[in-house]
Amino acid sequence: MDNKRPILLQGAMEVEISYFKEVITDLEEITIYGYEFFKGNFEGYPIIVSKTKVGLIEASIATFIGITNFNPILVINQGTAGACNKTMHIGDIVIGDKCININSFITNAREEKQGSISLDWELLTFKDGKDELIELNANEKLCNIAIKCSNSYNVGKIVTGTIGSGDVWDKEVDRIKWFNEKYNVLCEEMETISVYTVCKKLDISVIGIRVISDNEILKESFDSSVTLKLQKFIMEICKELIKEVKE
Ligand code: 5AD
Repeated sequence: MDNKRPILLQGAMEVEISYFKEVITDLEEITIYGYEFFKGNFEGYPIIVSKTKVGLIEASIATFIGITNFNPILVINQGTAGACNKTMHIGDIVIGDKCININSFITNAREEKQGSISLDWELLTFKDGKDELIELNANEKLCNIAIKCSNSYNVGKIVTGTIGSGDVWDKEVDRIKWFNEKYNVLCEEMETISVYTVCKKLDISVIGIRVISDNEILKESFDSSVTLKLQKFIMEICKELIKEVKE
């Protein structure tokens, strides 16, 4: 890896980046078009911490600004997510080797007064030409490094699979299970698909890692304390990445 280019570390909310700001040295705040970036060093390697704000549009803009202004070697997007099955609990982690947009639909045709039946909708991504469900991938090497670091995390289990991303907070259990059963979605959140899309277009390696903060199926309600645990795990991954750069 080119050791001059920083790691771009993203989180949507302050609580999702606050630990990074504590452990990164020589911190300098840079605000661009209202998006906050914190430039610093970790173990002698440059890091940019980015607060993307919540949602797909915000995350797209923040990622574009982050890449074009700081020329990162790679992007790590991380934060909280809701579980989409009964086996994931608060504190478990999903390494998003795949991501789909759970906000991009075509509905069945229904006449006036026939209502709206959202479980009949189909996911697809509108393209110039053929429309289909598009699944974007994380960088394989980054996934392998994250998996390799798994034994440093003792809060919960770590699984690899599909993150579902959209501007929606689902609280309908049938719908959450539908995403899981039909599309293999392990967890739902609001930023990763934007980050994967922008990184793909700008040819930058990316990984999305999410900690389960809530499970509507099991009635485990939102717990923001897991953000700290995830950030600590992310710094373990950074240590491993930096070691690779230095070797
Ligand atoms: N559904 C959607 N987003 C969630 N988030 C955490 N849990 C969920 C959930 N069940 C994250 C989003 C967003 C913030 C509101 O919390 O990614 O950044």
